[in-house]
Amino acid sequence: MSTILLAGGAGYIGSHTAVELLNSGYDVIIADNYSNSCPEAVRRVEEITGQSVKVYELDIKDSVKLETVFSENKIDAVIHFAGLKAVGESVDKPVIYYRNNIDTTLSLLECMTRYSVKNIIFSSSATVYGEENPVPYTEEMKRGTCTNPYGWTKVMMEQILEDAAKADKELSVVLLRYFNPIGAHESGRIGEDPQGIPNNLMPYVAQVAVGRREKLTIFGNDYDTPDGTCRRDYIHVVDLAKGHVKAIDYILRNGGAEIFNLGTGTPYSVTEIVDTFEKVNGIRINHVYGPRRAGDLPESYANADKAFKILGWKTEKTLADMCRDTWNWQKNNPQGYKS
Ligand code: NAD
Ligand code: UD1
Repeated sequence: MSTILLAGGAGYIGSHTAVELLNSGYDVIIADNYSNSCPEAVRRVEEITGQSVKVYELDIKDSVKLETVFSENKIDAVIHFAGLKAVGESVDKPVIYYRNNIDTTLSLLECMTRYSVKNIIFSSSATVYGEENPVPYTEEMKRGTCTNPYGWTKVMMEQILEDAAKADKELSVVLLRYFNPIGAHESGRIGEDPQGIPNNLMPYVAQVAVGRREKLTIFGNDYDTPDGTCRRDYIHVVDLAKGHVKAIDYILRNGGAEIFNLGTGTPYSVTEIVDTFEKVNGIRINHVYGPRRAGDLPESYANADKAFKILGWKTEKTLADMCRDTWNWQKNNPQGYKS
């Protein structure tokens, strides 16, 4: 049985991936400093799967502490989720973002070299396509110009990992470019639990639905899109988690250096999200139209063919599933894990 280290595995995507890896027969170790998560999320992963997870509470940047994880366990592959991800905050605190996101990557690579761990999967983002590339995005497009430090950290980390793989022919690197993950595990026991005011659309909608926020502001309805609001490639977090299992199967079997888009290939507008959430859950989402948000692109969506061709992975869940599962999580956990 192979053992997978999830750096930042207590977070939103990491916890869902832990469930799918455990259900597929992998052993999972989580290392997290809980800067944007909590031990309860891991407890619930164990509850859902009926299996136990070894956890290290540590800062991945701290390479001395990180080394204990590698010396105490035989790790077959690492998935690197540990990053700060709030776009607006990254503009205000760029040094903290560069320090955290780049240093976690370097510490992991150093420990992997020392302990001959040769497989790493990295949580990248559609944001690396920048402003220049036309939709739908394909993996061979050049990385573009980002509008914020968060995006640049992803561009830089992709470059660092590619350089490391070029220098060490035995090192296998898979870069997964996520589109817009939403939804929650169908049990309603784990889900997205943002601290403070949500930056992203779906958690904001869910908090309006549960009465924590008064109304949603839709950022702009004068874009050159079918209904004037921006369109994104929303992907159910459980589909995304299953994509990681396929990527782990692949990297352990084939190795190499690859990039995969993880998206559905179908964009939906902000208005379609609000309408679908209202319809499937029978709840009204109080909303108003406001000005555009700086840095937003009219459209972002994947060409998802490569992941299907090479990994045999494609999404299975619908937008209605995403809206239903988000609400199931939020209504059962109105204050997130603190409920
Ligand atoms: P999240 O904040 O829920 O999870 C990240 C986890 O990493 C958290 O548990 C946090 O405590 C941990 N962490 C951060 N810095 C750490 C450090 N120095 N040491 C130890 N642990 C640390 O975020 P998520 O939504 O699960 O995202 C996971 C990854 O996917 C991130 O790298 C993010 O940038 C990337 N990503 C997310 C999205 C999205 O929309 N959620 C989209 C594209 C890419
Ligand atoms: C944002 C980030 C992106 C990051 C991703 C996941 C920006 C410019 N981009 O993507 O780098 O990888 O989150 O963390 O921030 N919206 C509203 N009202 C709201 C919130 C959002 O109308 O209160 C709209 C936005 O204008 C956008 C859509 O909803 O059109 C989706 O927004 P969001 O969930 O923040 O994702 P992205 O902007 O695609």
